[in-house]
Amino acid sequence: MKFKLLLVGSLIAIGAMALLAANVNEKEKERVELNKAPSSAGIAGKEKSEEWAKYFPRQYDSWKKTKEGDELTDMLDKKPYLAVAWAGYAFSKDYNAPRGHYYAVQDNINSLRTGAPVDAKTGPLPTACWTCKSPDVPRLIEEDGELEYFTGKWAKYGAQVVNSVGCATCHDDKTAQLSVRVPHLNRGLEAAGLKKFEDSTHQEKRSLVCAQCHVEYYFKKTDWTDAKGVAKTAMVVTLPYKNGTTVEGMEKYYDDINFSDWTHSISKTPMIKAQHPDWELWKTGIHGQKGVSCADCHMPYTQEGAVKYSDHQIGNPLANMDKSCMNCHRESETKLKGIVAQKFERKELMMDLAFDNIGKAHLETGEAMKLGATDAELKEIRTLIRHAQWKGDMAIAGHGAFFHAPEELLRLLGVANDQAQQARIKLVKVLAKYGAIDYVAPDFSSKEKAQGLAKVNMAELAAEKMKFKQTLEQEWKKEAKAKGRANPELYKDADTIDNGKSVWNKK
Ligand code: HEC
Ligand code: HEC
Ligand code: HEC
Ligand code: HEC
Repeated sequence: MKFKLLLVGSLIAIGAMALLAANVNEKEKERVELNKAPSSAGIAGKEKSEEWAKYFPRQYDSWKKTKEGDELTDMLDKKPYLAVAWAGYAFSKDYNAPRGHYYAVQDNINSLRTGAPVDAKTGPLPTACWTCKSPDVPRLIEEDGELEYFTGKWAKYGAQVVNSVGCATCHDDKTAQLSVRVPHLNRGLEAAGLKKFEDSTHQEKRSLVCAQCHVEYYFKKTDWTDAKGVAKTAMVVTLPYKNGTTVEGMEKYYDDINFSDWTHSISKTPMIKAQHPDWELWKTGIHGQKGVSCADCHMPYTQEGAVKYSDHQIGNPLANMDKSCMNCHRESETKLKGIVAQKFERKELMMDLAFDNIGKAHLETGEAMKLGATDAELKEIRTLIRHAQWKGDMAIAGHGAFFHAPEELLRLLGVANDQAQQARIKLVKVLAKYGAIDYVAPDFSSKEKAQGLAKVNMAELAAEKMKFKQTLEQEWKKEAKAKGRANPELYKDADTIDNGKSVWNKK
């Protein structure tokens, strides 16, 4: 009897194991199928993400939901000192926190930073400003050649760059594997002595696809001659990694080549603007060092019946912590959220301290100049301001670093604050020499006041922009539609200028 029971028990167990194994095999098959090439010929019109939908409906549907990350946050309103820090540079006109990938192309068009061109040749910005917005960019690099792509003004490609960050940005259309076609990434990795994308591990690639865009870069002026013998100048997106990917390494790179993005309009300091070094800072944090990839948190696996897929709604991982954090963490969601909130508050305090000093250092330098201080007297002061603002900007420009790399962020803001204070101590001496020891920098506690000091005329900029939107932008849209370059239906909600959500065209 006992033996019989044991036998039945074993049979049941064996049956269950077999079922489980079949189930696992089934899942594995589904996974493998998902990774299979749609066709060895690739996808015609691969820049249009909707062309991928019939092969990968779940990835497509979740990708489309990046539209839900639609909040526009006016950073100049939240942090007015930024308008003083960036006086004389386009960022003092308009600067919003990032939002969903769905908006990348249209937000670039709508930003006051890209100005109001009237034809393909007018500025202010170079073509390079499209580079991290669209899969149309690798297409143009392949069609026109990299140097031609990087030559000319931003408006040159207004009718060409029309699909927002999409499937062809991160995937090969024949194999569906992760792939990268913009040459600047591998050049940067090699300069830093790191492995190329293709030689990296699968887990590394799950972050490196993001590093196509979420990195620090500058536009390297490059003279070249085209096939017809015409001399041209390209502004090539370049990662400043020759001395490594640390903030100090990049600072030395820029100092060594005497590079500046612009000259500050109040203090006449040669400045460097940080872009969005999410990848570099993430590498210094505990998750980066333990090998947790961007995709692990921002694109967590999702189970749908027997199918497991990556959630392509890239956004705030705290909105679905059960998928993004709880795979690895045992604390309660509330507790983890509380820890993240604490990190944010610490960043806020140090950011406000450092940038208040940076803003004042610019204004005090401007006052010293008015009173007759010489460039020689201000040389060390300007170097301190340049370095202070670079470090402060590298800490905050990525928006996620307070969580990705809290210690590095606080270190950078601490050093930034110290360097700004050193500049201000030296400034007291210079101001005293010119009889202004009691000088108090003017108030920049609101966006209006700060932009006043930066001499930004918002009404004029907005009027020019609206005119551009009604004229040249309409021509771009018409041409793109006629040539079938993008689906206007898909992007019809991307333009939020007229719905009262805009920061410079409020209704
Ligand atoms: C910003 C980069 C990015 C974009 C844009 C993107 N993907 Fe992915 N995709 C990834 C990453 C990262 C993975 C995870 C890859 C892995 O671990 O194998 C992934 C995984 C996949 C997979 C493998 C199965 C799975 O779900 O893990 C498919 C299929 C896929 N994506 C299709 C698409 C399609 C279709 C689009 C456009 C609608 C798209 N992807 C847009 C980065 C991207
Ligand atoms: C082709 C360039 C490009 C690539 C590749 C890219 N991004 Fe982005 N990302 C952007 C741009 C541009 C924005 C800002 C869009 C806007 O504000 O209109 C953005 C915004 C974001 C946001 C803010 C979303 C929100 O709703 O607030 C997150 C998070 C993000 N990206 C993460 C990632 C991750 C993770 C990857 C890799 C899997 C990645 N990105 C790959 C260009 C890119
Ligand atoms: C361990 C999880 C985790 C990893 C790994 C991670 N992130 Fe994040 N990321 C977050 C969280 C949490 C936030 C903060 C969300 C918030 O509070 O707005 C964030 C914020 C961001 C933001 C700012 C979004 C906004 O709208 O302000 C960007 C951009 C971003 N991450 C990109 C990346 C990139 C690129 C990588 C890889 C280089 C990466 N993240 C790695 C969890 C992660
Ligand atoms: C793939 C696994 C993984 C995922 C996903 C992940 N973490 Fe972590 N997390 C780690 C590891 C590993 C550590 C390092 C601590 C250790 O080794 O014990 C860590 C450390 C932390 C710490 C403590 C270190 C610090 O910076 O203060 C916090 C807080 C944290 N994670 C929050 C989050 C949040 C919030 C999410 C989701 C947005 C998340 N983690 C997603 C693996 C993960």
